Amino acid sequence: MSSGNTWDTLATLANKIQKVHLKDLISEPHREQYCLIEKNGIILDLSRQKIDREVLKHLFQLSTERQLVERIKSMFKGEQVNDTEKRAALHIALRAKRNQRIEVCGENVMVEIYAVLDKISQFVCRVREGTFRGFTNKPIKNFISIGIGGSYLGPEFVYEALRSDPEAKKAADGYCLRFLSNVDPVDYFRVIQGLNPEETLAVIVSKSFTTPETMRNARNIRQWFINALSEDSISHHMVAVSTNLEAVRDFGIDPENAFGFWDWVGGRYSVCSAVGILPLSLYFGFDTMREFLDGAQDMDQHFVHTPMEQNIPLLMGLVGVWNRTFLGYPVRALLPYSQALLRFPAHIQQVDMESNGKSVDRHGSVVSFPTGPINFGEPGTNGQHSFYQLLHQGKTIVPADFIGYIHSHQDISTDEISAHDELMCNLFAQPDALALGKTAEECRKEGIAEYLIPHRTFPGNRPSTILLLTKLNAFALGQLLAIFEHRTVVEGFLWDINSFDQWGVELGKVLAKDIRQQMIQYRKKSGQAKIALSNPCSEKLLKKY
Ligand code: F6P
Repeated sequence: MSSGNTWDTLATLANKIQKVHLKDLISEPHREQYCLIEKNGIILDLSRQKIDREVLKHLFQLSTERQLVERIKSMFKGEQVNDTEKRAALHIALRAKRNQRIEVCGENVMVEIYAVLDKISQFVCRVREGTFRGFTNKPIKNFISIGIGGSYLGPEFVYEALRSDPEAKKAADGYCLRFLSNVDPVDYFRVIQGLNPEETLAVIVSKSFTTPETMRNARNIRQWFINALSEDSISHHMVAVSTNLEAVRDFGIDPENAFGFWDWVGGRYSVCSAVGILPLSLYFGFDTMREFLDGAQDMDQHFVHTPMEQNIPLLMGLVGVWNRTFLGYPVRALLPYSQALLRFPAHIQQVDMESNGKSVDRHGSVVSFPTGPINFGEPGTNGQHSFYQLLHQGKTIVPADFIGYIHSHQDISTDEISAHDELMCNLFAQPDALALGKTAEECRKEGIAEYLIPHRTFPGNRPSTILLLTKLNAFALGQLLAIFEHRTVVEGFLWDINSFDQWGVELGKVLAKDIRQQMIQYRKKSGQAKIALSNPCSEKLLKKY
C-alpha cells in the first residue's frame, strides 16, 4: 500500500512529539477547536492525547491514502471485506431501518433481518403474555442464555448496563436473566441455583452450533429439564439462536423456536442480531432493545456520513493507531466511570483483541509494525484502588479511555454533593493527573520530605481520552457499542489487516479435541491408557490430573 512518505512523516512526528510533555500540548491555545468534538449528544475530548494539528493532518492524510472512507463505505455496502472467509461484515445492517436496502450478493438482507426481528418480537410477546408456557403450564419467568465469546459477552454487557436503568427495568420486573458461558461445571451450578425448571427457558446461542463449551452446557441444561420434567419438555423450555439451523434441529429444538442470523455477522459483532436481541428482549421487552438498535444505527449514520475531523469513532481509531503503532504503547485501558458498564471492558476486549490481534496483512504478508494493543479495564473508581498505581507511575505507559455520564441511573444526595457527583469528580481528576503529573519541585513546595520526593513525583505525560455522554439508556448504549466496534474497524483498515476473522483461536481448539479423545480412553481404561502429547511435560501433567 502506497503511503510510505506519510507513514515516515508520522514516525518522525512521533519522535518529535515524544519530546513534548502533555502539559505543554494541553496549554496550546484553541486546542479545544480540534480536540473537543460534540456530536449526537456525545462529547469526545482528545485534548490529553499526544497529538497536535500537524499529527492529525498527517493521520487524515494516511487515512486518505489508505482509502479508509472507501473501505468503510464498502463495509456498509455489504462488500466482501472479510477476505479470508470470503464474507461481508454487515453488523451495521442488523440495526438499519426496515426500509433501507442493503445487499449481499444481490439479495436485500433487510428482508431477512426484519423477518427474524418480527419473529423475535412475536415470540417475546407470547412468552411475556403467557401464551408460550412451560411444560407444566407455568408461565416462564427465568431465562438462561447459553453461549460463549461473542455469543455471550455482548449480551451480558448490555444486560448489566441496562438493568438499573429506570425505563429498561420497568419491563424486566418479575423476570430473571442469567448467562451460562464457561464449561466449568461451577458456572452451570451457579446459574441454575434457585431456578425452577418449570418456569425457565434456555436460549442456546451459538453461531456455529458446534462450539464444544456451549454444546456441553446445552446438553447439561437439556438434561436438567429432562430430569425435572420429561423428555417431551424440551420444546417448551429450549430455544436457539444460530446460523446453523440444521444442527439446531438435530439437537432437538423445534425449528419454530429457532432464530437465525447470517455468516456475514461476526461473532463478536453479533450483539445486535438475535444473539443479543432475543435473550435481552425476553428480559427487557422488545421495545427497549429496539431503542438499543436505534442508538447503534444513529452512530452508524454518524460514522459513515461525518467528515473525518468530526467523526467520533474514526478519530478514536486514528488515535488508536497513533498510540499503538507510532508512539509504541502496547496496552490500552477502558475505564467506564459507571458501575452499570462493568462488563463493557470485557466485551470490547473481545471485539478489539479478536479483531486486531493479527500479524499479517490482508494479503498474508507479515506486517512490520505493532497492531492491536492489549485491552483491559474495570469501572472507576474501583480500578483506581487496583491498577491505577501502574497507570500513574509504572514504566509502561497505558493510554486510557474514560467514559462518564452526566446523569446517573440512580443517585443519592444526602451530602454536599451527590454520590454521582463524587464519582464524576474522580473521572475529571484522573485524566489530568495522568497527563500533568507532579514534579519534584511541586512536592518540595508541599513540604514533602526529600527522601520521599522520588516516590511522590508523578511523571505525567500519560495520554487519555474522555467520552462524556448524557445518560446511560438503551439508545445511548447502542451508540456506545457502535463507537467502539467502529474504532476497531478503523484501526484494522489502517493497518490493512482483516478485523473480521479469528484463525488464532483454532489451534487451541484442535489440541483440546485431541486431548479430549485421549482423556476418553484414559477414563475408560481407568488411567491405564497411553497418553501421547507432543510436550512431555504436558503428558506428565495430564497423568497427574
Ligand atoms: O473461539 C472464538 C469464537 O469463535 C468467537 O469468535 C465466537 O464468538 C465464539 O467462539 C463462539 O462461537 P459460536 O457462537 O459459534 O458458539
